[in-house]
Parts: sequence; C-alpha cells; structure tokens
Amino acid sequence: MNVLSMLLIAGAEGGPSDFLMFLGRIHPLVVHLPIGFLLLAALVEWVVKKPQFQPIKNYTYYLWGLGSISAFFAVLFGYFLSLSGDYNESTLFWHKWVGVAVLLFSLVCYFLSKKQWKLPAYGKPVLIFLVVFAIFYTGHLGGNLTHGSTYLLEYAPNVVRNFAGMPDKAVPREKVTVLDSADVYLDLISPILDRRCVSCHNDDKKKGDLNLNTYANLVLGGESGEVMVPGDSNASDMYRRITLPETHDEFMPTEGKPPLSADEVAMIGWWIQVQAPSRGFFVDLEPDEEIKNKVEKYLGLDKNQLLSQTVQPAKREVVDSLSNFGFILNSLMSDNHFLEANFSLSEQPLKPQVLETLYGLNEQLIWLNMSNSDVEDVHLEQIGKLENLIKLNLSTNAITDKGLVHLARLQNLESLNLYKTKVSNGLLELVPQLPNLKRLYISDTQADSTIVAQLQQQHQDLLIEFD
Ligand code: HEC
Repeated sequence: MNVLSMLLIAGAEGGPSDFLMFLGRIHPLVVHLPIGFLLLAALVEWVVKKPQFQPIKNYTYYLWGLGSISAFFAVLFGYFLSLSGDYNESTLFWHKWVGVAVLLFSLVCYFLSKKQWKLPAYGKPVLIFLVVFAIFYTGHLGGNLTHGSTYLLEYAPNVVRNFAGMPDKAVPREKVTVLDSADVYLDLISPILDRRCVSCHNDDKKKGDLNLNTYANLVLGGESGEVMVPGDSNASDMYRRITLPETHDEFMPTEGKPPLSADEVAMIGWWIQVQAPSRGFFVDLEPDEEIKNKVEKYLGLDKNQLLSQTVQPAKREVVDSLSNFGFILNSLMSDNHFLEANFSLSEQPLKPQVLETLYGLNEQLIWLNMSNSDVEDVHLEQIGKLENLIKLNLSTNAITDKGLVHLARLQNLESLNLYKTKVSNGLLELVPQLPNLKRLYISDTQADSTIVAQLQQQHQDLLIEFD
C-alpha cells in the first residue's frame, strides 16, 4: 500500500483515516519545535544589536528557517487532528488561523534575514513582535482546546480570574456532616456527574452535544433530545445508558472510564423518579430506608460520628494507675487519642476503684474488653457511664437482665458481646434503646430462639450471633 492510499482510506465511521489521526496526534508534540526555534530566533535578533554578537547577525536566517519548517509540520498535523471534529468550533477556528499566521510571519522573517526581501527599518521588529504574540496566543487557544478554557485560571487568584472575565472561584460545598443538611442535587447528584461525566460533557467538550456541568445544561439535553424525564427513570436516556451492560456501545461513561457504583446508579435513578428536583433537602423528599442507607454510605455518614471528633490525650496518672490494676491500654488511631482498654488478661480482682479510675478515660475509651473478669450486675452501672464506648465485651461474666438496664446509656455502642452470660428477656428492653448497635453476641446465654426472633424483628439490620 503506498502512502497516498494510506492517507486516503477513511477510518471507522467515515472519519479521517487511522494514518491521518496518527499524524494528527503528533501535533501536540511537534508544536514545541517551532515555539522553541522562533522564540530563540526573536531573542537572537534582539541581542545581535550588541556589538559583541555582531558576528552571528548574518546567520539568524537559520533559526527562522528551522522555525518555519517545523511550523509547517505543526500546522499540517494540527489540520489532521482538527478533522476528528471533537473540538469547540470557534476556538478551533482562531487556533488554526493564528497558527497559520505564525507560519507566514516566520517565513517573511526568514526572507528578510536572508536579505532576499527588504522592508522599512521598523518592519522587521514589528513582524518579530507579531510572531511572538501569535505564538503565545495560538498556544493558549490550543491549551483551551485540549484542557478546556477554564483550565489555565482554574486555581488563579480571583483578581486574575476577574480580570480575564471569569467569575470567582466556586466555593467548594461544605462537607455534609448530618444527613438533614444534604442538598439533593448539590451534594448528591452533581458530585457524581462531576466526577464521572463532566470530563466529556462540559462547556468546551460537549460529547453527544450534551453538557452535564450544571442542572440547567443537563435539562437542555443532547443531540437526540432530552436525556432526563423527571418522574420516569426508564424513559431517561442518561439512566438507560448508565444501567446498560458495561460492554454495550452506548454505555456511559465510555472509553473504559470508571463506571458509577451500584449505589450511585441507584441514587440517580431515585432522583429522577422523585421528579429530579434541582435543589432542596434530600430528607424532605421522604426517602425510604433503602435509599437513605445508600446516601448515608455515599456521604460517609454511616461511620460513627464520634470518631470525627478530636479528643484530648488521656491523663498520664490515669493511664499509669490503670496499668497497675492490670489493664492493657492501646492507642487505636495515629491521629487521635482514642483508646482500647483490656482487662480480660488481668490477674487482679475487679475492685470498685478499678472502674472508678477507668471513668477517668470516659472521653478516650471506645473499646472495652472486660471478658472473664468477674463483672457482676452492680459493676454495669459504672460501665454504663462510659458513653463513648463503641465496642464492649462482657462475655463470660455472671451478668443478668438486672444489670443490662444500665447499658442503655451507651448510645454509640455498635458491638456488644454477652456470650456466656445469664441475660435473657432484658435484651428486648435494651436493644431498641441502642440505635447504633450492629452486632450482638448472645450464644450460651439464657436467651432462646423466640427472643432472638423478636430482637431480629425489632432491629432488622442487627447481626445476632446465636446458636
Ligand atoms: C470518555 C468520555 C465520556 C464520558 C466520561 C461520558 N460520556 Fe456520555 N457521551 C460520550 C460520547 C462520545 C457521546 C456521544 C456518542 C453516543 O451518543 O454514544 C456521549 C453521549 C451521551 C449521551 C447521549 C446524548 C444524546 O443526546 O445523544 C448521554 C445521555 C450521556 N452521554 C450521558 C453520560 C453520563 C450520564 C455520563 C457519566 C456517567 C457520561 N455520559 C460520561 C462520551 C462520554
């Protein structure tokens, strides 16, 4: 196959041939050559005015020549690249013609330097200025074409942005810390689109003629019309495309970009079903438990809020006396002072002052292991005051329902181990009072399977370890 036919054979879907696209994609690489040569030529033209550089005055045409040749290839390959049709038209128009102007001006400089052409004395400096200006301008437009017009000044100070006619930097939305304050579009839907879709659907690059960077643009739809039908996710092209099999041609995002998670897909589907509001609190839309859980997980609110607080380090003397009682204390996080205390290996008896001293850690203590430590019902009153506990192990102790009532204050508790204790019906009172409880260990207790069944009914997400 000769070069000509390689150039002429059309590529997939009637676009430019693969070979032209290959050359086109070299454009961003090749453009650096004329930039280098021509800026150097301009610099040299300036310094040769000094007497000591006079000897090179007659050779500047080499630089203009190299600049012109490389500018020619940059223009040619740039033209090939433009055939792919993926670019903003008016930016492309100016980028292309200012690029051609660079080529023409530098050719004129070449002939002037070679003394083949003549101009009035001020003519050459003006031309050189035009070359330099045109290089910067078309280079800037080229940057806009590849990165989008907001790329350059995205992180610039607001004064600079305003000077260039851009609005102030968007103030990032504050991180949602309680579900009640989450805005349905700004905190849930828009971040998903921003992260997964806007790289191809924005002001500068509107694939499928669709822009997803704001609600107003989303509603405008794409080349095949509206992409979202409020109240009907199944009729919404955007929902259809994110739920297709990943291998499907029309699946979004394309090009193997990371797809949405199942929860994100569910959130978008739900949002469309509830009429796709552009603003308003998520909780005001009466979400059911299922979507609420997904949203909490998405916002990172399913984790215990306690852990996002900062606590003071434990007092030295408290730590020391607890160690003397036989407690093993462990730090649980490198960037916070939360602690785990373990008494289960202590060989000392559980004296009243042990638990009193332990209360000195009530802020830091989130895990407590009192397994097999002769804990009795009376002790639970003290333990129940350790309100930051997330995990509590009371297994293998003679505890009964009488003591359990004291644990109702443990509002952060997620895991409660009562294995090998004497608890039974008291669980039915306690469990509904512990909103964060996720795991309950009650094997080898006096709780029977009817109690377990009732507990499970009260608290469907609770994992009950029982046999
Ligand atoms: C890697 C680039 C890319 C990403 C990322 C991307 N898209 Fe697209 N999208 C395209 C291209 C290319 C088209 C046009 C071809 C087509 O219709 O399949 C398109 C077309 C569409 C259309 C059809 C528009 C119309 O009216 O024809 C919808 C709807 C769409 N995308 C939604 C999305 C959503 C939602 C996301 C994020 C989950 C997304 N896209 C992410 C490249 C992308």
